[in-house]
Amino acid sequence: MLDQYAVFGNPISHSRSPFIHDCFARQQDQQMQYRAIEVALDGFNQAVEDFLQAEGKGLNVTVPFKEQAWSLAEHRTARAELAGAVNTLWRDQQGRICGDNTDGVGLVNDLMHNNAVKLNGARVLILGAGGAVRGVLQPLLEAGCREVMIVNRTAEKAKVLAAHFQEMLSVDQQINAGGYADLENSQAYDVIINGTSASLSGSLPPINASVVSTNTLCYDMMYGAKPTTFCQWAVDHSAARAIDGLGMLVEQAAEAFLCWRGVRPETAPVIALLRQSLAHQ
Ligand code: ATR
Repeated sequence: MLDQYAVFGNPISHSRSPFIHDCFARQQDQQMQYRAIEVALDGFNQAVEDFLQAEGKGLNVTVPFKEQAWSLAEHRTARAELAGAVNTLWRDQQGRICGDNTDGVGLVNDLMHNNAVKLNGARVLILGAGGAVRGVLQPLLEAGCREVMIVNRTAEKAKVLAAHFQEMLSVDQQINAGGYADLENSQAYDVIINGTSASLSGSLPPINASVVSTNTLCYDMMYGAKPTTFCQWAVDHSAARAIDGLGMLVEQAAEAFLCWRGVRPETAPVIALLRQSLAHQ
């Protein structure tokens, strides 16, 4: 029987992960099978145990189970520990369930390697303060961002998040937080990352236009067949570039594949294939 992998989520039918991991497996000549499995909202822990007990070698975890996966993992990588969420699970040789979070490194790799964005020394504005944002802060700070400003509809959540990451700053870095009103009269940022779920409903966070200039790169962690609302906003405000989160999705998958199989797939051809398949829907 082929080594079994899966992504657990609810809902899950929209998931592109089987497509991505099938591409990786073919490219790297790995004998494995990867499925998307919808797990009952109250059945996550049992489903993981069952899967890893049987033929399952590894799992990806998506909404709404990433925090539960974090709690379930008996051993967590340092980046998962800080992220407070786990998107990759496997069992190690001692039989422990291990958890990693590859979302943040996926974002940073997509920015730096696929899109040649210079994060070292950059001023970065992050919109949102939920799980998605928490998962990417450490890798962004590690990439050397000079200033990170987190804004959220509920400003308090952004402040709690900023406080949480305060202690990992180097002397020349700062992290600040507030609400959207705090962006009035703000200078333009080098990079703006939309980590809110607003694009899902086609809405836009109430961002002040002064934060964007013709030098600003805008990145939406969401993606779709058409430009997301945030990417369209960036284009309308003459941002230098507007990039959606499709590359991040493939990069986080590549990092999970590396965890499980010990080889890192080439992401560029898979990003191109996925973009093509989206366009044909
Ligand atoms: P995720 O795990 O995807 O981050 P989440 O933890 O529910 O999901 O967080 C969603 C984020 O999107 C939050 O920062 C939320 O703001 P609040 O904390 O104030 O709720 C933000 N968000 C969702 N819809 C939004 C909208 N229409 N405008 C601005 N922010 C929005």
